[in-house]
Amino acid sequence: MSDRLKKRVQVRADQLKKDLHRHNHQYYILDDPEISDAEYDRMMQELMELESAWPRLSTPDSPTRRVGSPPLDKFETVLHSLPMLSLDNGFNDTEIIEFDSRIKRFLKTDKPIRYTAEPKLDGIAVEVVYREGVFEIASTRGDGIHGEVITANVKTIRTVPMILQQPKGLSIPSVLEARGEVYIDKEKFESLNQYRLQNQQPAFANPRNAAAGSLRQLDSKITAGRPLDIFFYGIGMTSEPALTSHSETLQRFEQLGLRVNPLIRTQIDLQQTLDFYHELDKTRHDLLYEIDGMVIKVDDLDVQRALGEKTRSPRWAIAYKFKAVQETTRVIDIEVQVGRTGALTPVAHLAPANVGGVTVSRATLHNEDEIQKKDVRIGDTVLIQRAGDVIPEVVKVIKSKRTGQERPFVMPLHCPVCGATVLRIEGEAAQRCTNASCPAQVKASIKHFASKGAFDIEGLGSKLIGQLVDKKHLCSYADLFFLDQQTLEKLERMGPKSVKNLMSAIESSKTVQLNRFIYGLGIRHVGENVANLLAHDFQSMEKLENAPENELARIEGIGPIIAKSIRGFLAQEENRKTIDRLFQGGVIVPIKSDESEKAFKETVFVLTGSMASMTRSRAKDLIINAGGRVSNSVSRKTDYLVAGKSPGSKLRQAEKLGIQIVDEVQFESMINQN
Ligand code: IVH
Repeated sequence: MSDRLKKRVQVRADQLKKDLHRHNHQYYILDDPEISDAEYDRMMQELMELESAWPRLSTPDSPTRRVGSPPLDKFETVLHSLPMLSLDNGFNDTEIIEFDSRIKRFLKTDKPIRYTAEPKLDGIAVEVVYREGVFEIASTRGDGIHGEVITANVKTIRTVPMILQQPKGLSIPSVLEARGEVYIDKEKFESLNQYRLQNQQPAFANPRNAAAGSLRQLDSKITAGRPLDIFFYGIGMTSEPALTSHSETLQRFEQLGLRVNPLIRTQIDLQQTLDFYHELDKTRHDLLYEIDGMVIKVDDLDVQRALGEKTRSPRWAIAYKFKAVQETTRVIDIEVQVGRTGALTPVAHLAPANVGGVTVSRATLHNEDEIQKKDVRIGDTVLIQRAGDVIPEVVKVIKSKRTGQERPFVMPLHCPVCGATVLRIEGEAAQRCTNASCPAQVKASIKHFASKGAFDIEGLGSKLIGQLVDKKHLCSYADLFFLDQQTLEKLERMGPKSVKNLMSAIESSKTVQLNRFIYGLGIRHVGENVANLLAHDFQSMEKLENAPENELARIEGIGPIIAKSIRGFLAQEENRKTIDRLFQGGVIVPIKSDESEKAFKETVFVLTGSMASMTRSRAKDLIINAGGRVSNSVSRKTDYLVAGKSPGSKLRQAEKLGIQIVDEVQFESMINQN
């Protein structure tokens, strides 16, 4: 190859690397993309092709390294230049007040101490070393002194920059050891588990385990497929001499392009710290990720140094943990429930236990294999856990509490509801009732149909559905649109007012967006995400009904299993009849007009707080239908922040950036104008 060509290839590769790094930062950190996904993909593809033709170009800092490197035999270990310490825990306000008093005693001062308070993410601690601004090595906390080298795995995390941004007027530190928590969002965790179950892989117990399992892969290509994310919160060794406080460190991190949790509050006093904890405790279920408490750190670095460390933990920080969400209790019985798709789920009936403030008397045991693996028997004492908003589950049996009176559980051979034969399909974990008109299946499918993400019929609860199915007024969800007032009035606990409300809820659910319609059908493996993809691609039910399997499978995000399931569902005469009956009953799926597409076209909304007149998912629908986009975080690209009641920190962020803020009433009038 001629030198000139060599040079040109080198220049082009360097340019692509530089641009891709910048677009990564715009997209993943600032949430403010400058180019389309397709354009980004083209650039990445070009760089990959150049690197595969001239391997010498594939430097360790190349953006292509995010897709994974060749597998390792084992992890190397590395000595942390400064130990990665652990934290002492506090469990109530008194213990935090004592922590503050201890600090003042130690410093012989009664001046108020300034703190930084940070959500404590429940993930895995890592350290990323940047040398001359380039990602050099990443490691786990390990035993605090030695960590395992997981460089290739951490490089697959899109929010970890491969090279640091140059802050305006400042230089990039020659060494920076940035520490942070790698985690998985709750929703992404659910999809990951769903995917694993569909592919006969065991589900992860919680997002933390999923993050840990994903980071400790010897094959980084596996890690690359996992939805990992990171927030940076601390520093190891650095050549940066100018830092005087922890809050300044976090600010510098942001300037360098390292992702910092926007909820962190800096420079606050003890009382504000406690207030923040109670606020977080109330709102933590609304966060996209799991947190198990708050970390309180003395802000001033000189004060931190004066306080120093004990063997395992610093004196200048404490974790204020939320109340435990695990508890022990006894299994009174094991009952089998039949779900929407006929799957039999064993459920443990428990002696009521208070788990983190909520009384729990049932916990899922998932399936027969799980019961066997955990060896759960009736009468056992078990450890149960309630993680975030998911259904409580049995973690393990406390075998030392066994008396010999416990009874093993056997899965029934017939459906406990309709008596039909139960089948376990080859390769599947679940056993299924084979009778499609099994009342349990019908009830569960109607409940799903009426749920928030589907037709959203308010007031149609399980008890009412139970009565309607048992009295044969409903044989499928389509029958809902043929119910009359007289029938409803004869039911238990249905006064004229409830009947009127239900009738009007059913009536107004008749106009429904295509994605909700598809989701409501209850096709196996078609969750809200897949339904959105299908609606987006096909635009009408008719087109979807006629789509062959290969056309379904070509949609990104829809694999062969899902495609087969959709095709299978739509091929069944019975299901087609039900769909027709929905339309006969007056269901309308409005077709998106170009007019409405234009209304909010290219307009980015962020939602915060709660609205009195609509749910968040309804507001999202309205925006999306009018051609707009809903983003989770406020950035300069945000056009409107819709602030409902008790807005979160997004409001402050929007004010800071000068983004237009609208309240509920203004938002409604914007929508109505369209
Ligand atoms: S600071 C010396 N900040 O909690 C300070 N840790 O129980 C050490 N964690 O190993 C850690 N969020 O994995 C700190 N904002 C945060 C954190 C955080 C989560 C984890 C981290 C650490 C563990 C200590």
